[in-house]
Amino acid sequence: MTAVDVVAGMGLPSLAAGHKLRPVLATALRDAADAQAPAPVSHTHWEAAYFGLDRTGLFTHASVDAQSRILDACGRGLIEEAYFIEKAGIAFAAKMILLADTVDERMLYALFAADEATHFSAVRGFLVAPPDAPSENAFLDLLSGIIESGDRTTLQFVIQVVLEGWGLKHYRAMRDACTSPALTTVFDGILADEAAHHGSGRVLFEGAAVSDASARAIGDVLAPFLGMVQAGPQGVVGAVEGVLGPLPRRARVRLFEELDGRVHSGARLAQLRALMRGDRARDIVANLDSLNAFTPLSPEDCA
Ligand SMILES: [Fe+2]
Ligand SMILES: [Fe+2]
Repeated sequence: MTAVDVVAGMGLPSLAAGHKLRPVLATALRDAADAQAPAPVSHTHWEAAYFGLDRTGLFTHASVDAQSRILDACGRGLIEEAYFIEKAGIAFAAKMILLADTVDERMLYALFAADEATHFSAVRGFLVAPPDAPSENAFLDLLSGIIESGDRTTLQFVIQVVLEGWGLKHYRAMRDACTSPALTTVFDGILADEAAHHGSGRVLFEGAAVSDASARAIGDVLAPFLGMVQAGPQGVVGAVEGVLGPLPRRARVRLFEELDGRVHSGARLAQLRALMRGDRARDIVANLDSLNAFTPLSPEDCA
């Protein structure tokens, strides 16, 4: 099969406001009404308890203004991450359309590409001043890299089986705790689509022969990804520091302890391990186990 060169395009710009193509796109997205929705002014769609902040001294003793800025930063972190994942999803589906070896599989990925474009557009509507490109983010770098370099089997496992499976749990948790009815509706739509994306990935991967090169590529991307999950709620700590200023090491360790980072990461790592079940992935999981990749780090190591 011919290799397909894809640029993940995480930093692709948007068309200028008023460009003649924009109403055409809005019609295709069937969101002409949404295009008139007022621009968002905040990202505060979750309560402090969702992030575990209600258990931390730094948050509970902060001023009301600092608390609301921390919650806005945490909410922005969630929405912005979803925005870039959906953006990357369009490139992923485009590559999979071209790599498909049946017309049915090609049709499926074409429909998924439309889903991802729809998700991206919907999530973008909840971001104040959506950026074109992400600021430094190791997870998004890893995601772009694997979309660009991965073969069909590697991508089916890493993106559809693991990341979209995990995304289902993540979006469900965000939806269940979300305080904005409009954003809850967006998550409902995304969840329905992502279930099909994940389910089809499972079917396709189970029927695939996993070459040594694919198994190595899968391990090479999942080990650092699991490393990020092992390192606890770094985004929440970053949001607190973004508002209150850099914390001394002892205060960071205490914050990770109060956020219950180990329990939080342990549960996520167990979910990820469960997603990797199945005969085809047995050696991959055994390798990751030998690296202790499913064990959360201590608060000292997270800090
Ligand atoms: Fe999506
Ligand atoms: Fe998806």
